[in-house]
Amino acid sequence: MLESCPVSDELLTTYQLAPSILSADFYRLGEQVRLVMDAGVRVIHVDVMDGHFVPNITIGPFIVEAISEQVHDAGGVLDCHLMISEPDDYIDTFARAGADWINVHAEACDHLNMTLSRIRDAGCKAGVTINPATPLVAIQEAAGDIDFALMMTVNPGFSGQGFIESVVPKIARARTLLPPGVGLQVDGGISIETIGKVLPTGANNFVAGSAVYGAPDPAAAARELMEAMAAYSASA
Ligand code: DX5
Ligand code: ZN
Repeated sequence: MLESCPVSDELLTTYQLAPSILSADFYRLGEQVRLVMDAGVRVIHVDVMDGHFVPNITIGPFIVEAISEQVHDAGGVLDCHLMISEPDDYIDTFARAGADWINVHAEACDHLNMTLSRIRDAGCKAGVTINPATPLVAIQEAAGDIDFALMMTVNPGFSGQGFIESVVPKIARARTLLPPGVGLQVDGGISIETIGKVLPTGANNFVAGSAVYGAPDPAAAARELMEAMAAYSASA
């Protein structure tokens, strides 16, 4: 984690692309991370799945630890999206591994405020995520206790799924619900074709897995998405 790092604070609320390493080539993971960071990316999204909360099993704290120094040395943050049951049991482990932002699913937390406090006590920024069909009220009472919220635009579990457009109005409502200093992230099916649908919602952080790492040139794909974000912000 980056202890009380002003860079981490700024990254929460500014326009940021967060490439998901879930779609990266793990044989060359360090190189794949470098490619997008050299292109200007500062938020690396890590999709943690346990085969229980979601059907897939993916990345754990060892991978976070393996890329932590590289990401931090380049001025970036590790944004860990925990798609796991009982996330409380793993918060300290991910924080020690180098996570800067830890994001839990409201659907997986029995005592959400307690979990969020645990994340902050571990020195990380606290995020809460909801699935496409979960109503916004699930996070409403926690809105003052989070650093960012994540609206899923696919059902969690896999990269490369289609963007669920019916979530778009909920993202806009989330922006009006959240205090101004709280970031708003969108995750699932974001590409150069779909990002234009979510930019007007007020979201500022866009996760992209297959659109970046599934492209023949991930750096060019990341740049194209960041240019779309910059163009929108200049026109807004
Ligand atoms: C889905 C993950 C996403 C996913 C994004 O469960 O949380 O971060 O990897 O991949 P794309 O951008 O391909 O939908
Ligand atoms: Zn994710």
